[in-house]
Amino acid sequence: MKTELVRFEDVGKTYITGSVPYEALHDVNLTIDEGEMVVILGPSGAGKSTLLNLVGGLDGATKGRIFFGEDEITAFDDKRLGKFRAKDVGIIFQFYNLVPTLTALENVSLMQDLGLDIMDPEEALDMVGLSGQKDKFPSQLSGGQQQRVSIARAIAKKPRLLLCDEPTGALDSKTGNEVLKILKEQSSIHHRTVVMVTHNNLFKEIADKVVIVKNGTVENIEINEHPKEPEELGD
Ligand SMILES: Nc1ncnc2c1ncn2[C@@H]1O[C@H](COP(=O)(O)OP(=O)(O)OP(=O)(O)O)[C@@H](O)[C@H]1O
Ligand SMILES: [Mg+2]
Repeated sequence: MKTELVRFEDVGKTYITGSVPYEALHDVNLTIDEGEMVVILGPSGAGKSTLLNLVGGLDGATKGRIFFGEDEITAFDDKRLGKFRAKDVGIIFQFYNLVPTLTALENVSLMQDLGLDIMDPEEALDMVGLSGQKDKFPSQLSGGQQQRVSIARAIAKKPRLLLCDEPTGALDSKTGNEVLKILKEQSSIHHRTVVMVTHNNLFKEIADKVVIVKNGTVENIEINEHPKEPEELGD
């Protein structure tokens, strides 16, 4: 049985720059189930990152309601929202955002220093296949390895939601597929809900749900009954 984790009800987001409002998203209705692998696709400027940020409470909606399980995150105060982000949301960016002066292991352990209940940082690095690289600094790691450190850092706190904005955008297709495999395992083996923004049309094959964003709204939602494994995508 599927359990709903996230629900958007008529959500909109208007940015105000100076005195000029800009409607980046409107009329978004969407549900995401627990453990689902969701891929968000669409042209540049369509509103994909805006949508992802709303899912994780990184930014607030200006219209409509967003639910996470039983809770309405659009009704949270700042303190409750901060707690939600710290505990339930792991984020992976295109350019890794690692601390250059810390080793791979220290980058992952950082989460512990923030007082979060996290898994053993070594175990998190094992999970992404980096047990042998844990004492290296980011500059001594390849792009794919750096991205795997950032995934280890995000999953170490055992978030229910793993949000990824173009996680393979800076990687070649082979390395990108390796990163994709790790993200897909987070959903299929570890039952985490993974939401990934990408420009790569091929990636829709591995998703349970594909959300097409165009002109500031969800244009279409496709369900894959039989998603492919990343290995089947080819280069
Ligand atoms: N903080 C902001 N203030 C004002 N406008 C913004 C802000 N963030 C995004 N926008 C605008 O909202 C629209 C959607 O932006 P968004 O970053 O969500 O697009 P995107 O689909 O992720 O694009 P890309 O594929 O290029 O990353 C764009 O027109 C952008 O200029
Ligand atoms: Mg974006």
